[in-house]
Amino acid sequence: MPEPRTDTPAHQMWGGRFAGGPSEALDALNRSLGVDHRLWPQDVTASKAWVQALGRVGVLTVPEEAQLLEGLDRVAERLADGAAMGAADEDVHTLVERLLYDEIGALAGKLHTGRSRNDQVATDLRLWTLDALRQLDADIALLGATLVGRAREGLNLLLPGYTHGQRAQPVRWGYVLLAHAWPLVRDRQRLADARRRVAELPLGSGALAGSGFPVDRVLLKEALGFRTVSANALDATGDRDFVAEVLFAIVLLGTHLSRLGAELILYASAEFGFVKLADAYSTGSSLLPQKKNPDVFELARAKSARLLGDLVALLATLKGLPAGYSKDLQEDKALLFDAFDTMGLLLPAVTGAVATLTVDRERMLGALDASLRATDLADLLVEAGVPFRESHGLVGRLVGEAERAGVPLDQVPAAIAAGIHPALGAVVTQLGSWEDSVEGRATPGGASRKSVEDQIEQLRRAFTPDWRP
Ligand code: ARG
Repeated sequence: MPEPRTDTPAHQMWGGRFAGGPSEALDALNRSLGVDHRLWPQDVTASKAWVQALGRVGVLTVPEEAQLLEGLDRVAERLADGAAMGAADEDVHTLVERLLYDEIGALAGKLHTGRSRNDQVATDLRLWTLDALRQLDADIALLGATLVGRAREGLNLLLPGYTHGQRAQPVRWGYVLLAHAWPLVRDRQRLADARRRVAELPLGSGALAGSGFPVDRVLLKEALGFRTVSANALDATGDRDFVAEVLFAIVLLGTHLSRLGAELILYASAEFGFVKLADAYSTGSSLLPQKKNPDVFELARAKSARLLGDLVALLATLKGLPAGYSKDLQEDKALLFDAFDTMGLLLPAVTGAVATLTVDRERMLGALDASLRATDLADLLVEAGVPFRESHGLVGRLVGEAERAGVPLDQVPAAIAAGIHPALGAVVTQLGSWEDSVEGRATPGGASRKSVEDQIEQLRRAFTPDWRP
């Protein structure tokens, strides 16, 4: 067993009651600076607001307040210059305080009056999340706008629409792309909604029961840009619902990117050949010279699995905890940061790959075969007065005949068609073009030109960067 350390660092935040310092093993396990160092700007901002709050209630004199604020500014400069690199402090809060001692001496010891790391870390992480959500939202909007732009170009391109992986009915390429854009609108709404609950201020909660000094939490809230003040200190210090909510919204966004990726991987295969990825967004094989791999979309699929792991790990961490802060909660940050970092890499790559892929009109048209008109035929029979359930069965028989004769559905000999139902022969000749077929489904939300144009207009507005749901 390693010996306990006896060299208690000068500015450790605790230790008075301990005879010796922590063992190296505990120190290594407990230390979170490697993860939470990125919270330093928020830690400094929240600390400055706290200093002002303490000043207002007379805990600090006016000169002390000024000195602490200047000191914190100098700490921020040092941190911006890399002072966190290789530091041995327990966490970001200890680090900021130690640097403040360096700058202004013993007065630094007044900063933590009436505050706990429990309300401090919750405040820092919420501030960080509010910032990170801004960038994430902008990245989603850019992908959405890119899909909409490509959809506009694909308005006149027809291809089979698929269900169950089977060709089903003709649709517009633009319509398919929009089916992947709408989920992103919901993602932005979900994140915006979660944001409201992220913006609740825990500072002033103390360790669990409130602060021993009568700080004005409403002014603190205003100063730090929060929306509301948390209602119960025990809840506020142990509440990580905001992390869970944001993680869920990110996981679902990841799931959407995964589904887009899965579809485009299929369409980029030689078998489909509907799209080609730009060189800049595909990779080669080390063995197979001919290969051009859709790595971006494959990684989109895999990263969504990893994001799901982050959410599951967080929920599993939370479920066993009593109210209030437990050290388990220190693990929240690695999970949340991982999710934002992953999206920060993924979204620009997916956006670039979508923006630059090329489309093969001939391959798409070539995949339209006459069997995709079966529903049109059944609908035409309905117009001739046949109940749909019956017309479905009649056209099914026609499909069977076409397969037996080895001819396309619209080229079954008229006599055979008429033998199935007297109206069927005539109806086959009424089938118009593929374009007519698509335009036949003109309900709002359908694949018709008008519907797709309407959707493009709605989505164009939904993906402007400053859009608020
Ligand atoms: N590093 C800790 C965390 O990330 C800060 C809070 C520590 N609180 C405590 N009572 N030890 O959760």
